[in-house]
Amino acid sequence: MYFRFRVKPGMTQVNMGKVIDGKAIAAGLYEEMQREVVELEQKYGRRPGLTVIIVGEDPASQVYVRNKEIAAKKVGFVSEVIRMPEQTTQEELLKVIARLNADPTVDGILVQLPVPKHIDKDAVIAAVAPEKDVDGFFGMKSGFTMKQGYVAPCTPRACIHLIKTTGETIEGRHALVVGRGELVGKPVATLLLNENATVTIAHSRTRNLGEIARTADIIIAAVGRPHIITGDMVKPGAILIDVGINRGADGKLCGDIDFASASEKAGWITPVPGGVGPMTIAMLMRNTLDCYLNRVR
Ligand code: GUN
Repeated sequence: MYFRFRVKPGMTQVNMGKVIDGKAIAAGLYEEMQREVVELEQKYGRRPGLTVIIVGEDPASQVYVRNKEIAAKKVGFVSEVIRMPEQTTQEELLKVIARLNADPTVDGILVQLPVPKHIDKDAVIAAVAPEKDVDGFFGMKSGFTMKQGYVAPCTPRACIHLIKTTGETIEGRHALVVGRGELVGKPVATLLLNENATVTIAHSRTRNLGEIARTADIIIAAVGRPHIITGDMVKPGAILIDVGINRGADGKLCGDIDFASASEKAGWITPVPGGVGPMTIAMLMRNTLDCYLNRVR
């Protein structure tokens, strides 16, 4: 999908920023995984298994878990959702995790967050076997070296995948990560370093964000502030990946990047919605498949 810019009278160069279509790229990944699962079942005698645990009734979590279940079935995994009541004790939850850790047919375990307040989230995350941790929380601690058998978190991995689909090189380029959160900012900076980018991390206290941004070949915006990156901050031709999902003043979904102005300067840009969002669950499926491969091979 291409996004064409108005050519103003007298313009000699047509600046054409291309939209990175996350929905289409995710659809391609699903197709690829469906084929792979059929082949793997023939080769290893079983399909990858993903188990999601949800404790309590949080309505948003119910929707997320349902979407994960649908995606897992779509790619042909053995998919199980364990629903536990709000009053479940930490001990009971840890017992279920221990059983799944020992179950050879389970390749991926995901405990949907948040868990109820009386349960220690960190103890739960730590209880999941590192080689079955499809969230990539453990991999975050180990710097995500795939050869160790741990996967990277889904959204950061989706960002790297989207950059790679442009065909542009990451190695040696200046990548700016805006945001230092545990779920996206920090891990995506590590993944960019693993790809040999020169990485800058900016955050709410950063001075001269515009000046820094104008030197970046790649910008990953993950702060949750609507339109913090505007066109005047973008180096011509830069790759812009927008992880933000915000509600704008008009009530519509918008990203951390001002698409209208930034797309006039960018070489490539992800929209919101339809960019990083659809890729995240696709990457959870890829992580599950990779955990399976690490275990069967
Ligand atoms: N709740 C919201 N996002 C996530 C996620 O990425 N992983 C888990 N386990 N829970 C979540």
